[in-house]
Amino acid sequence: MRSAIFMVTATLLYLTFPGPAPAETWTEATAVFQERCIECHQFSIRSAGLRLDTFEGVLAGSSLGRVVIPGEPEASELINRVRGRSQPRMPLTGPPLTEDQILVLERWIAAGLPGPEGGAESAR
Ligand code: HEC
Repeated sequence: MRSAIFMVTATLLYLTFPGPAPAETWTEATAVFQERCIECHQFSIRSAGLRLDTFEGVLAGSSLGRVVIPGEPEASELINRVRGRSQPRMPLTGPPLTEDQILVLERWIAAGLPGPEGGAESAR
């Protein structure tokens, strides 16, 4: 009986504090870009010269320069745009990204921009 209570307590603790959120990968980041960004940032429609339909495009940035800085979401123009710290806010049309979608992008940048191959590849 005592061990059953221990198991339940341990499980509840684990569920309440599952540890640090996992670093996001390109797979999660690209899902957000595909859903809300590529209609204006892709091969044929490159608003501001920026493509968000490929990993290389995101790294290459816009006609003004880099939009993501590995390890530094706070300094990345892409985050400033989706948080509305830089105007106009992105996406240019429709509702802002959800907090969860923004966190995905922030964690992906904080993780050093892991590429399509997974955790091994990074833009650093
Ligand atoms: C409806 C079209 C549209 C959508 C959707 C859109 N953008 Fe944009 N984006 C633009 C236009 C147009 C500009 C140039 C506007 C400006 O900065 O004056 C721009 C500029 C930007 C810039 C600034 C580039 C620079 O160096 O100044 C970033 C970063 C950006 N977009 C990211 C995103 C992200 C991330 C998404 C999706 C979450 C997104 N955009 C969705 C049209 C769009």
